[in-house]
Amino acid sequence: MTEETILVLGARGKTGRRVAARLKDRGLSVRAGSRTTGTRFEWADRDTWGPALRGAGAVYIVPMNESVDQDVVTDFTGAAVAAGVRRLVLLSARGVDGQPLREQESAERAVREAGAQWTILRPAWFNQNFSEDFLLPPLIEGELALPAGEGREAFVDVADIADVAVAALTGDGHAGRTYELTGPEPLSFREAVRLIAAASGREIRYTPLEAPEFKGLLEAQEVPDPLIDLLTRLLVGLANGTGDRVTDDVRRALGREARPFAEYVKEAAAAGAWTSPS
Ligand SMILES: NC(=O)c1ccc[n+]([C@@H]2O[C@H](COP(=O)([O-])OP(=O)(O)OC[C@H]3O[C@@H](n4cnc5c(N)ncnc54)[C@H](OP(=O)(O)O)[C@@H]3O)[C@@H](O)[C@H]2O)c1
Repeated sequence: MTEETILVLGARGKTGRRVAARLKDRGLSVRAGSRTTGTRFEWADRDTWGPALRGAGAVYIVPMNESVDQDVVTDFTGAAVAAGVRRLVLLSARGVDGQPLREQESAERAVREAGAQWTILRPAWFNQNFSEDFLLPPLIEGELALPAGEGREAFVDVADIADVAVAALTGDGHAGRTYELTGPEPLSFREAVRLIAAASGREIRYTPLEAPEFKGLLEAQEVPDPLIDLLTRLLVGLANGTGDRVTDDVRRALGREARPFAEYVKEAAAAGAWTSPS
């Protein structure tokens, strides 16, 4: 178990804040990296790296490939090891056939080649995208329209990701491992929406869209083009079956089963996640 400070990047984000909270609950020394609160950390501003890394023995890395030039991750991992960091845990993302999303390949390489112990987390789509991210506003409006057809994804709960991250940051037996983290079963967006509607007592429907129509909607909302392209590619991939794969890597890492989607929905609905503002 590490006694040194653990730097958590993306510490206000969906996984980072849960990782930081779990580490604090264990009484460990945590440094929360963020552009706005806690210890300032901005990928594009290297002057923020040194103070964030000072005295850190381990780092939870959220590379933000959607918006950050990934070449900096190699420089950052080098700076981390030079500053004395001995353990790196990377939040990557799974792509096709259990491989990393291609945007994550360079960050994975950087972590493997930095000269520290490393663990790579390669999760499926997060459950919490439905309650804490871009899928929430359309659900509140009553219609989720995506170019995912009836394709399925093995959505994974960020609580499971955070538990694996904490195990890898603090425990033994995870060095040199890559975990493809999925939930226990693949679900279509139609099935996911049906569960959310039933649990929240609301009428919400799922509408499959063609890719150009979906892109047009995002363009009208002024979503940046690279993000539109990424989301469309991923969702069309799901329509074609890329998300069906289920692994037992949550059990491999933690010795317990992954959290079912229905359990997440029940808890989020009870907390009012999909309560209409009107
Ligand atoms: N969402 C999914 O389903 C999914 C699935 C698999 C993998 N992933 C991967 O998970 C990672 C996190 O994605 P997410 O959508 O879940 O985001 P998130 O963890 O909810 O948020 C990421 C955090 O990163 C911080 N951040 C953003 N830009 C930054 C920058 N330039 N410099 C420093 N910090 C920055 C932000 O915090 P501050 O505003 O406080 O700085 C934000 O809270 C991504 O790399 C993504 O590829 C996501």
